[in-house]
Amino acid sequence: MASGNGILVLYAHPAPQRSRANRLLAEAARDVPGVQVRDLYQTYPDFYIDAAHERKLVEASHLLVFMHPIRWYSMPSLLKEWLDVVFDARWAYERNEGALKGKSFWLVASTGSGIEAYRPGGLHGRPFADFLAPFEQTAALCGMRWIAPLILHGASGLDEDKLQAHVALFRERLSNYAASAPTAAD
Ligand SMILES: Cc1cc2nc3c(=O)[nH]c(=O)nc-3n(C[C@H](O)[C@H](O)[C@H](O)COP(=O)(O)O)c2cc1C
Repeated sequence: MASGNGILVLYAHPAPQRSRANRLLAEAARDVPGVQVRDLYQTYPDFYIDAAHERKLVEASHLLVFMHPIRWYSMPSLLKEWLDVVFDARWAYERNEGALKGKSFWLVASTGSGIEAYRPGGLHGRPFADFLAPFEQTAALCGMRWIAPLILHGASGLDEDKLQAHVALFRERLSNYAASAPTAAD
């Protein structure tokens, strides 16, 4: 499957009016040339997803970004629905020839709790990396390249300087990925 050369950001925030961190990240992504930010809760308030259209957008991309607050150790429900209907098995991975093969996957997410809560004996009982397994295996099954996730821990109480530094880091990394998009010759 030929690779597209755009970047598709799936922004999923169930309560965007209350978002501090993800709202700024989504705004930063919108400013980067070659990046399309898809606000899923705005686009599909009724959860009725146009899967064929979404697949075309994914096919035109070389990098798929999931951007969202962590909810119950996972992704928000509309993004999960998006995954369920868009990643049709035959299209996504069957016989290792699926449409996603060779594309990259990047999780950009935030948690309310600080990293210290993610440890044995801590509030969340285990390292945060343990909760990444379903994301990582989804990418692996589809033959996608796994990019180390960018996680903002303790997003709720973070001071403004640290938040702005995180947004700047994200913008820089995203711009680099946009600049290294595959060309027709690749
Ligand atoms: C229903 C719900 C579930 C949540 N689950 C988690 C969780 O599993 N782990 C965690 O650290 N924070 C959890 N949070 C906190 C959010 O991740 C946090 O508020 C968000 O990352 C802050 O980003 P924002 O400023 O863009 O809203 C949850 C919040 C809600 C409302």
